[in-house]
Amino acid sequence: MYRPLFAVIDLAHLSHNIRYLKSRLRPGTSLMVAVKADAYGHGVRAVVGRLVREGVHHLAVASVEEALEIRAFHRGVNILVLGAVTPDACVKAAEAEVEIALTDLSPIEHIPRLPKRLRVHLPLDTGMNRLGVKRTDEAVALARSIAAREDLELVGAGTHLAAADAEDPAHAEGQMDRLGAFVRALEDAGLRPPRVHAGNSAALLRNPAWHLDMVRVGIAAYGYSPDPSVLPAPSLRPVMSLYGGVLRVAEAQPGETVGYGATFAVQRPMTIATVAGGYADGYPRQLSNRGEVLIGGELRPVIGRVCMDQLMVDATGLEAAAGDIAALFGYDPPVAWRGGWWSRLRPEERAARVQETYRMASNVEKRRVLSLDRLAERAQTIPYEILCRVHRRVPRVVCD
Ligand SMILES: Cc1ncc(COP(=O)(O)O)c(C=O)c1O
Repeated sequence: MYRPLFAVIDLAHLSHNIRYLKSRLRPGTSLMVAVKADAYGHGVRAVVGRLVREGVHHLAVASVEEALEIRAFHRGVNILVLGAVTPDACVKAAEAEVEIALTDLSPIEHIPRLPKRLRVHLPLDTGMNRLGVKRTDEAVALARSIAAREDLELVGAGTHLAAADAEDPAHAEGQMDRLGAFVRALEDAGLRPPRVHAGNSAALLRNPAWHLDMVRVGIAAYGYSPDPSVLPAPSLRPVMSLYGGVLRVAEAQPGETVGYGATFAVQRPMTIATVAGGYADGYPRQLSNRGEVLIGGELRPVIGRVCMDQLMVDATGLEAAAGDIAALFGYDPPVAWRGGWWSRLRPEERAARVQETYRMASNVEKRRVLSLDRLAERAQTIPYEILCRVHRRVPRVVCD
């Protein structure tokens, strides 16, 4: 670690969130955690390791590639590929004992026998209009064809709720009603699979009647409500914090401007801190002149346009120094990281020192949080997108 920019992945908070979410589940409902897109940007290996320790048996990914990445270090856990699959992906999934969602049998119609029994879910389109079977008779016919093949096993049926976090639950209720019709038709045909699922984080937080046999939770595991204005979840703790080092502190006078396009005009004598982290790292450029950074124990505004690799902050009146660490989002940096801390460390000891000191001020959870909810709103996006887009050039320091 030479460049002072890193994300802390707090596994204790992941554990806390999983325990909290389990406590909200209807008894008998299983928890599936979505770990697609490198576990929403957190790093799939560390996240899966911790989820398994927390007794999570079901994971969801978007592609067979993502499933195989997990299989390379974990054999025991169930993995469901949510996305559409090609014939070769079906063969790979069967070999790796990964579950897939099949909208029809066309991907495997020319494969007389898969190398191993493939476990299949029926994707049911109840109102999202994205993927899945739209009619109940189609679903029953597909379930029948699956039952007729010895190399397939029907283990689940699921739908995806488009608006479970909307203020008005009517859209989600409508989808649940249509799912009910699918399930009754499958039951009547004697083909109801063991796991029927619909819920995401919003459904889990909102209504136990939407939990069914399994809930597929994503964003809440990583510490955010899908929409805090409708579903406040103050018990959740952000798992990722993004930290950037102060690269330079300089004075500026009225008449000067800051950054590309000279969009910020200095009106009074001020101190400007240049902080590592830009849009190439995943910090949204939409936060130019709109973002906030936790620096020197205070929330301070981003001034000027966010650059590819740096951003500038109004640090007037702060005791900020080059080599301090600021939070671009997440928990306030420990006080130990001030006073030019980073530059005094040797590169090879930095990750270990971050791990040692991150929790040193004891309760991380009592520290101030720069919530992604607030930043995402200002960037006209959602925490999901910002988390997934933290670039792979940003080292993830896993803390416990
Ligand atoms: C099919 C499916 N299920 C569950 C989830 C998890 O959703 P959330 O992160 O809102 O809990 C996703 C996320 O995109 C999804 O696509």
